[in-house]
Amino acid sequence: MTAPSKDLPHSLPKTFHVKSFGCQMNVYDGERMAELMAAQGLTAADADSADLVVLNTCHIREKATEKVYSDIGRLRKHGRKPMIAVAGCVAQAEGEEIVARAKVDVVVGPQAYHNLPDLVARAAAGAPALDTDMPLASKFGKLPARRKVGPSAFLTVQEGCDKFCTYCVVPYTRGAEVSRGFDDLVVEARALVEAGAREITLLGQNVNAWDDDGRGLHDLIRTLDRIPGLARIRYTTSHPNDMRQGLIDAHGDVESLMPYLHLPVQSGATRILKAMNRSHGRDDYLRLLDRVRAVRPDIALSGDFIVGFPGETEADFRDTLSLVGEVGYAQAFSFKYSPRPGTPAAGLTDEVPAAVMDDRLQRLQAALGRDQQAFNAATVGRRCQVLVERRGKLPGQMLGKSPWLQSVHFMGDHAIGDLVEVTLTAAGPVSLSGVVQMAEAA
Ligand code: 5AD
Ligand code: SF4
Repeated sequence: MTAPSKDLPHSLPKTFHVKSFGCQMNVYDGERMAELMAAQGLTAADADSADLVVLNTCHIREKATEKVYSDIGRLRKHGRKPMIAVAGCVAQAEGEEIVARAKVDVVVGPQAYHNLPDLVARAAAGAPALDTDMPLASKFGKLPARRKVGPSAFLTVQEGCDKFCTYCVVPYTRGAEVSRGFDDLVVEARALVEAGAREITLLGQNVNAWDDDGRGLHDLIRTLDRIPGLARIRYTTSHPNDMRQGLIDAHGDVESLMPYLHLPVQSGATRILKAMNRSHGRDDYLRLLDRVRAVRPDIALSGDFIVGFPGETEADFRDTLSLVGEVGYAQAFSFKYSPRPGTPAAGLTDEVPAAVMDDRLQRLQAALGRDQQAFNAATVGRRCQVLVERRGKLPGQMLGKSPWLQSVHFMGDHAIGDLVEVTLTAAGPVSLSGVVQMAEAA
């Protein structure tokens, strides 16, 4: 076991704060940890006053990991000594090291956070507590029921990844692909709707690999579509190889399934895709998008890209730019390659120089930015429903999301969670403005 922390022992915390980094699954896990601590009688507080701060971390790129250590330092400024729990993927990957380097009180992995109350109690008693087990029995059955959520809620349906892309830590930090059971998910979706959700985003590292006894994600979506009060369904993140025809068909005829698909491709060069172990080529990806667009022509496409994977040449990078030009993404996320310890690509020596990576990222982001603006501009004049998420800064201003996941602001007086019929009138780089058409649609 690890050396005792110099800051221990603590008394049992009365207040807590959960700070999540990284992907939407971490946001979901963070919410569930907060519900768990609230069920123990703790009250939520700000990071700079809470007795217990949970840092729910991301390990996907190097910068994300370094952030954890600077955050720990910040929490301890001015002589404050909150109990610190490190959760999430950095906890899973570097548990012992974090306790040794930063002397935190609790380390808990993404598959073990149902044990957080026990670990906190152990830390309060004077010993740093670490749990990075990946038990076969799921944590989900041990978490308290959902109580109060906003109009747009996340629901984790699948975790882990068996794809082993050569650059990626996820198969190591989140473990093998596991799907939650159909009935369990329908129960949680109903509870979310009762707790205020009008939109549910189904989450998974490979969400479209979800299956339960032969039922695929489209069967789950078709069942959730029948829940009264649930107006919108989304899902993320998908893998091209798990995009089955049933799911594509659902985009054509399930009204509550929103016209948006996040389908990472990473590179437009088949040679690089091979080196990444993506198990699909450039053309496979493009033909797949043709099939999706055939059933849902207005679908907003989104993707993830990595520039500067070892061995990537200027010609390979241009293949990425040309793929972007062919697809016309509505939104996208792009990153510089970051070698992650323990992954196969970390051993590759033909690194792309930092300045070349910077240049490629800039060129790619300029192209993606232009396409996003063009997509937004093309929706001006359209009439659509906007799900109201919050009030804007200006008096009478409301903010929400279009079916294509664009941020839309408009003037009106509506409740959070209302679906409002809006005509889109102008497009900026990141949001659109609209005008209300009718009082409210069902
Ligand atoms: N370096 C850079 N980007 C990465 N991603 C995953 N691993 C790495 C890495 N080692 C990106 C991929 C993935 C997204 C979640 O993060 O684009 O789709
Ligand atoms: Fe990582 Fe690839 Fe799995 Fe996505 S599909 S989580 S990039 S290994």
